Amino acid sequence: MSGIKRVGVLTGGGDCPGLNAVIRAVTKSLITRYNIDVIGIEDGFDGLIENRTRPLHYDDVSGILQTGGTILGTSNKANPFKHPYIRDGKTVCIDCSDKVIRNVNDLELDILVCIGGDGTMGIAKKLIDRGINIIGVPKTIDNDLYGTDITFGYDTAVSIAAEAVDRIHTTAQSHHRVMLVEIMGRYAGWLTLGAGIAGGADIILIPEIDYDLDAICKVVEKRSKKGRRFSIIAVAEGAKEKGGELTISRYIKDSPDKFRLGGISVNLGNEIEDRTGLETRATILGHLQRGGTPTAYDRILSTRYGVGAADLIGKGILNHMVALQGNKIVSVPIEQIGGKTRTVPLHDELINAALEVGTSLGVEEI
Ligand code: F6P
Repeated sequence: MSGIKRVGVLTGGGDCPGLNAVIRAVTKSLITRYNIDVIGIEDGFDGLIENRTRPLHYDDVSGILQTGGTILGTSNKANPFKHPYIRDGKTVCIDCSDKVIRNVNDLELDILVCIGGDGTMGIAKKLIDRGINIIGVPKTIDNDLYGTDITFGYDTAVSIAAEAVDRIHTTAQSHHRVMLVEIMGRYAGWLTLGAGIAGGADIILIPEIDYDLDAICKVVEKRSKKGRRFSIIAVAEGAKEKGGELTISRYIKDSPDKFRLGGISVNLGNEIEDRTGLETRATILGHLQRGGTPTAYDRILSTRYGVGAADLIGKGILNHMVALQGNKIVSVPIEQIGGKTRTVPLHDELINAALEVGTSLGVEEI
């Protein structure tokens, strides 16, 4: 490492447990090992556009390992290349990247550590093209980021969702109901597949496998006839029927990812009830899955990622994202990451494991 004096840190996109653990690790490591000043950027890329920053000292990041959220704030709308701006009473999107580059230079930031998912890495790539040095850290409960086996935040979210499936089990059993648990994850099924397997769901529906309503009804009816008078369905917010459409809960005009998914469990539950006559209920877990304290696994992974990011800076390896491959912390060029979604491969070993224990994936055959 030579000549690196100041590093900026920001958290971008939807929050998730472990963000503070990364901020703590990267800051402590940069200060103590490399004597580098760390500047926290508030609310993701918005802080760079609006010049809202504050120094992060060692004591500022003490005691935050276990806390959820991010001490820096975040935004899943902020984008320097498409910044919403009110002109003549109308919202227009303008390119603010020149301003961001000016602010980075004025702040004398040699490197930006961007902690985020695919949206953040996509913006990071464009900033690299404009000459900014970046280190990425892979975050998201969805676990859908290309280049790493696992993102931090996933383990906590999958644990929360699995616990929810467990809890739904007992009430489903008491009332002899078909209970649907709707789980986040956008267009990837990792979270639902993990929680469904861990919670012993009878049916798991993921975006990668369009479901067949007949096949689902057959499973719940068969269970009911055998005396198992309840069924648990773990359904991903991004699941859809064969030939059907995604269920969109809201459209956010000024967000890079304009659609928010949600509500599939309610519609599907009604359809199952109409077809089978079995009483159904739906529970949408929503942002519960993103809140609160990280699991021990996520605290460890976040700490490894934060220290790994500082290591890259120390070695002068720039414009890479730290990643976990196998059980090793490695680095991947950011230009290889943005814009791709890592979905569940149809022949993934997890899919096979679910099928082997008798779980339906909502189709007769994959
Ligand atoms: O990407 C994380 C995530 O929680 C997704 O699983 C979900 O679809 C989305 O963000 C929700 O976004 P918002 O916080 O804007 O509602």
